[in-house]
Amino acid sequence: MERIFGRPIVTQEQMRARIRELGKQITIDYAGKDFVLVGVLKGAYAFYADLARQIRIPMRVDFLMVKSYGSGSKTSGKVKMVTELTEDIKGKDVLLVEDIVDSGLTAQYLFKALEKKKPQSLKVCTLLSKQDRRVTDVTIDYVGFKIPNKYVIGYGLDYQQKYRNLPYLAVLDVEEDRA
Ligand code: IMP
Ligand code: MG
Repeated sequence: MERIFGRPIVTQEQMRARIRELGKQITIDYAGKDFVLVGVLKGAYAFYADLARQIRIPMRVDFLMVKSYGSGSKTSGKVKMVTELTEDIKGKDVLLVEDIVDSGLTAQYLFKALEKKKPQSLKVCTLLSKQDRRVTDVTIDYVGFKIPNKYVIGYGLDYQQKYRNLPYLAVLDVEEDRA
């Protein structure tokens, strides 16, 4: 890999420990429910796989794939659902799993889209949150880490579709100008 990324801002050990805590909390909160864990691809794939294995109740897994328009490290706010859920979530307790909530526009768009399918409940879990960048009032129920307004890569997150397989979370050394 080219060395355009720096040292971890969240190490693998910190990640493991926090995901264990989230898994415990979700296990308690969703005990006895008809639970579906919905992952938002591609970004959430690493977090999703680790989180799911820390949840100790029966559940279904499902995925959505979204594509946001715009390239580089800018968020355009325009989102397209590329693939749909495979199961009917009507009457089910759904937890949407995101990699990062930045402006919140993606989370808000997905929340509204899933709400139309009439789940019993719908909550959002994100590994990372950039609070300072939020332009929506979408409620995020579970947050792994609050991070500063820096562009991060690794552990599922990309820069121009690369670096998702970096096993930890790093800040991009080459910071682009951001709106
Ligand atoms: P939002 O719609 O502004 O909340 O942006 C959410 C999406 O933007 C995420 O799902 C990511 O794909 C992307 N994104 C935002 N910040 C970062 C970052 O720091 N690194 C990688 N992707 C990011
Ligand atoms: Mg992305």
